[in-house]
Amino acid sequence: MEIIHVSAECYPVAKAGGLGDVVGALPKYCNEAGAIAKVVMPMYRTKYLYAHEWDVVHKGYTHMGDWWFPYTVIREKTNELGFDLYLVDIYGLLDREKVYGYDDDTERFTAFQIAVVDWISLWKHRPDVVHVHDHQAALIPFMFKYCHAYRHLQDIPTVLTIHNGQYQGWMGWDKYTYIPAYDSWKAGMLEWRGTINPLASGIKCAWKVTTVSRTYLDELRQHANGLEALLEYERGKCVGILNGIDPSVWDPATDHYFSEHFNVETVREGKAKNKAHLCERFQLDASKPLITFIGRLVGEKGADLLPQSIEDSFYYIGRKMNFLILGSGFPEIEWRLNALKTMARGDYNVFIGYDETLSHLMYAGADFILMPSRVEPCGLNQMYAMRYGTVPVVRNTGGLRDTVIDYGDRHGYGIRFEQATVGDMTHGIFRSVELYQQQEKLQELRRRMMQLDFSWQSCVRYYLDLYEGLALE
Ligand code: ADP
Ligand code: GLC
Repeated sequence: MEIIHVSAECYPVAKAGGLGDVVGALPKYCNEAGAIAKVVMPMYRTKYLYAHEWDVVHKGYTHMGDWWFPYTVIREKTNELGFDLYLVDIYGLLDREKVYGYDDDTERFTAFQIAVVDWISLWKHRPDVVHVHDHQAALIPFMFKYCHAYRHLQDIPTVLTIHNGQYQGWMGWDKYTYIPAYDSWKAGMLEWRGTINPLASGIKCAWKVTTVSRTYLDELRQHANGLEALLEYERGKCVGILNGIDPSVWDPATDHYFSEHFNVETVREGKAKNKAHLCERFQLDASKPLITFIGRLVGEKGADLLPQSIEDSFYYIGRKMNFLILGSGFPEIEWRLNALKTMARGDYNVFIGYDETLSHLMYAGADFILMPSRVEPCGLNQMYAMRYGTVPVVRNTGGLRDTVIDYGDRHGYGIRFEQATVGDMTHGIFRSVELYQQQEKLQELRRRMMQLDFSWQSCVRYYLDLYEGLALE
């Protein structure tokens, strides 16, 4: 069974969020289970690119509209990631430092998809499944099915995973020539509400659609940034599969981003040492509970609620806790979080930016992690946190709802709140402070959540069953 993943991100090559983590791990665990999974992604100018050796496997020439371009596909030589990794180089378009955020992202990812399909169309064999991730790869099922030049690919089963339905890759109809020639009466398979909508097209054309948790699939039928009716209509081919985490990267006993390792037996001392490092670096008080947030500073994550909730906590609960925030995103949220530093020095700090090493140390050293998300398709932070004995304080939504049980409930271990509001979040913080005062209870919860198994090994079979079902169709 050969599965080709097509994605904009893959850890450790290039990562902007959880998509990278998933695409860096799922293929590896599929391979361990006996499949042959490979990853194809754009060639950005990343550290990983320069630190590794590559073979050129294909040089091609194709076009997007009337713009003809050469592309090159290279493969990492050593297979060190546990799967074959292919990068597609399109000179001047993909070879940038960041993954997203350029004015020509539409052209970048459309050309990337055309190059991938063009390359696959020249293979002597057919892969069993092509698995595309998010809108940056979601036009591929359409191209396989309806573009004249690739008709011979129409029998290859495709799977689309929606990691985040908020972003859909919309483009105007003035760009319709970007898509390789197709019968114009198939244009409806690209369209949703007056624009070319790659994510909607993927939902219409892929053989199967997955979301990264079951609750998120249910929620999408109510709130999908305009795609609700489509998801309701296509419900028969949709399935929710919760993401796993990669224990070879995320294990407090072996994590190579910090040195004070610990396991379920040594969690108390281990976390205390990591917390001491963090508190020293950020001038915080290690005797108080350390409450953290790691993530994109955007409304989806509820990050705009943080400044007010932190202020309210100090005001109503008192200076009984410390906060440490790591993230970047909307300038206004960054500004407000920075401004809080003067008001709450000694009990609060923020690091604006992206820092993989610091994030691992924070999972290890924090007592609590806040996730007041408005939308959370799966969420990996809470699963990492739990593996590192850090209590998740989460809004009851999406994958957070599927992975965190409130410690007040039977077999519970985390803290949940209902609404993405300052009031509800502050109440979650109040409960965290209360829990911290009951040290024995806290240690018991830590041990309980560290023993939960969210690893890919335990959930990869859901994907393998899906692929096998498709290969039989
Ligand atoms: P999303 O993909 O929506 O951002 P996830 O919870 O699925 O959310 O995954 C986020 C991933 O990105 C986690 O691995 C988290 O540790 C990481 N991350 C997010 N922001 C930062 C940051 N500023 N620095 C380091 N890692 C970060
Ligand atoms: C998206 C979602 C996040 C999910 C990740 C990996 O970025 O926002 O909830 O965990 O993809 O699937």
